[in-house]
Amino acid sequence: MASNTLTITDNRTGRTYTLPIEDGTVRSLDMRQIRTGEDDFGLMMYDPAFVNTASCRSSVTFIDGERGILEYRGYPIEVLAENCTFLEVAYLLLFGKLPNKSELNAWVYEITHHTMLHETTRKFMEGFRYDAHPMAMLVSTVAALSTVYPEAKNVQDPANRLRQIKRLIAKMPTMAAMSYRHNVGFPYVYPDNDLSYTENFMNMLWRMVEPKYAANPVLARALDVLFILHADHEQNCSTNTMRSVGSSLADPYLAVASAAAALSGPLHGGANEEVLKMLNEIGSKDKVPAYIRKVKEGHIKLMGFGHRVYKNYDPRAKIIKRTAEQVFQVTGSNPQLDIALELERIALEDEYFVDRKLYPNVDFYSGIIYQAVGFKPELFTVLFAIPRSVGWLAQWEEMHRDPERKIARPRQIYTGERTRTFIPMEERAVAGAVSA
Ligand code: SDX
Repeated sequence: MASNTLTITDNRTGRTYTLPIEDGTVRSLDMRQIRTGEDDFGLMMYDPAFVNTASCRSSVTFIDGERGILEYRGYPIEVLAENCTFLEVAYLLLFGKLPNKSELNAWVYEITHHTMLHETTRKFMEGFRYDAHPMAMLVSTVAALSTVYPEAKNVQDPANRLRQIKRLIAKMPTMAAMSYRHNVGFPYVYPDNDLSYTENFMNMLWRMVEPKYAANPVLARALDVLFILHADHEQNCSTNTMRSVGSSLADPYLAVASAAAALSGPLHGGANEEVLKMLNEIGSKDKVPAYIRKVKEGHIKLMGFGHRVYKNYDPRAKIIKRTAEQVFQVTGSNPQLDIALELERIALEDEYFVDRKLYPNVDFYSGIIYQAVGFKPELFTVLFAIPRSVGWLAQWEEMHRDPERKIARPRQIYTGERTRTFIPMEERAVAGAVSA
């Protein structure tokens, strides 16, 4: 019977090695035994950007890129988006099961009663320039919470970790809304505990002089669905950052701030803001073919398209597209939707995109909805960071419970010079004589 092993012959020495195959992987450390002699360090695996490397074992999120499947704790994303609230899904991601009614009520009560920020944090935010980008403000302010809750450094106490997890989930919308209000020069609006998680977020963003904010239920539900879709996505760039920073036992506020910083990049969570800029640049449907040509010539990327894992349509993009229709019934259609639909139609027929398996990802349609609901493009990545903080924290908690947890410290292939002779200052060439 074929054994679950890999046999490797090192042609440099003629020696053969048999390595166990476990869960479709070979342990990279098993390669170290393959050496040419006593002073040989042994083989390493070279995998820039970890394109083919499993960094951990996780039971939080499952993705099948070829089939376009996404499941949180085994539940298909379509079922969760249809039947759950965001806080219900947050409970599922963190604790591994859907809450019953009393568990959900207790969870919602806990989160609702941690939405306030210490006043020093409000003063901290007032120090930003009037036009500071909300994402940079959010990253900095989350890190600053580390100074408000110094006990958070005790990351090896599960009860302490859970207390900080609740605080972060509760306070992300408050900080996000404050970064927006600061950016537009409006006074801050404090949380209203009578409202749901997303309605309260809308309240803190948009309440002006009315005594009580009344969220449009269709828009509030659309935001809740968007939060569900953005909550986790296994070992993406920002989650990898969360785990890496967390592996040094840094506190969760600094780890979440690091993950949010990774998310802000235009190739990751910043793509939704870039999609809106792209649609504005294209301007009209008839200019789409010319834009596609520029993409195919390699000058630019089609933002909101492509994915490291999905080589099929991102299941979240399908749900977002359906949610857009419900939103536009309330807000009126967004002209950029027509441009986006034309881009998608042409791209899905064009061999450049088909050959490279480039399909719309989660960021392609989300920005169009956010803009229709009333968000400025500068806030789009902040809207990604709020729900994704649940995924980062679920993965962080799982890492702390992992018996194989170690500080993340990859190796390298050294390409520089070795043991150079030191040159005293007086003997060094005159500046400019040698190109820097
Ligand atoms: C997110 O990982 C996650 O799970 C992330 C995320 C999450 O929930 O956390 O899903 C959220 O980040 C979604 C992705 C948002 N980013 C964008 O929409 C930016 C545009 N997309 C690309 O930059 C790109 O598709 C990436 C970054 C998403 C993935 O890049 P990869 O896996 O490194 O793929 P690649 O760059 O090696 O591309 C393979 C080929 C290349 O062409 P060739 O060199 O083979 O000729 O496809 C081309 C690329 O040039 N290509 C694109 C393209 N994406 C890849 N060409 C045009 N437009 C694009 N968008």
